Amino acid sequence: MLTPGSVGSIALNRGKERCIQRDIFQLRTSYDTMILRRLSTFQQLVSEAESAPIEGWGYSWRATETRPPWQYGRMVAERMERARDALDVQTGRGEILASVPRLAVRTVATEARPENIVQAAKLLRPRGVAVVANHDASPLPFGDDTFDLVTSRHPAVTEWKEIARVLKPGGTFFSQQVDAMSVLDLFHDVVGQSHVRRRPLDVEAAAADVGLEVLDLRREFVRTEFHDVAAVIYFLRRMLSKVSAFSIDPYRTEFHELHERIQRHGSFIAHTTRLLVEVRK
Ligand SMILES: C[S@@+](CC[C@H](N)C(=O)[O-])C[C@H]1O[C@@H](n2cnc3c(N)ncnc32)[C@H](O)[C@@H]1O
Repeated sequence: MLTPGSVGSIALNRGKERCIQRDIFQLRTSYDTMILRRLSTFQQLVSEAESAPIEGWGYSWRATETRPPWQYGRMVAERMERARDALDVQTGRGEILASVPRLAVRTVATEARPENIVQAAKLLRPRGVAVVANHDASPLPFGDDTFDLVTSRHPAVTEWKEIARVLKPGGTFFSQQVDAMSVLDLFHDVVGQSHVRRRPLDVEAAAADVGLEVLDLRREFVRTEFHDVAAVIYFLRRMLSKVSAFSIDPYRTEFHELHERIQRHGSFIAHTTRLLVEVRK
């Protein structure tokens, strides 16, 4: 039986119910807003990564990379001081040579890309270094037994036979190279293993094949730390642009998971191997 009191309590309960429904509605709206905001952050990062220009130099946009402990530049400088005729193969923009305080008496460099040749020449011509246009896989435009030092950092390819040919007897080839495990975690965790194309460099076999003696061979892991998902997408766009245009569409779910992982942990770390090689003719 309804009493005035129970009518009052029903009214009160209805009031509470309305409040609860309103709270649920507000909660839902703020949850949806939060999800939308997170999605739009992800979307925004994807757009930034997709529109960043990939023509410039360096892959590490919004990422930081550690360096191997041996200090390649310093080691090149020590060898340049003792050399008479030196060649830097695939010099890029010539930054390594430009950083060397005392170059060999006669130093030359080769480079394939016209835009790099222009930059390298600006840096190196005032130091008396000629930058010679030469394709990575073409024969080197120098005579046999010309150089007592040949250097190359991160060459796209190493033409061992050509290097052996242009070295003087007793001359050395000194190089830092990118080995097989190049940001493997990235390919493994995000885009699948199918993109891994690089084979481990068999320096000993390559050198032995052309009669060069291995003086030093070191391998070191370096870490690349990506500070947001845009940095990862940008890196892949650059790296894979040589193979084909990279689209994030087939990997949108994986990238979204990676975005959430980076938000939880602060960054994503991938590992790369570097080799230090010194061989003598
Ligand atoms: C990786 S670069 C290294 C250049 C230089 N030895 C250095 O350590 O700064 C080796 C060669 O790759 C070529 N290369 C490949 N991708 C490139 C890119 N995105 N930008 C400029 N050069 C590139 C250049 O022609 C260059 O000679």
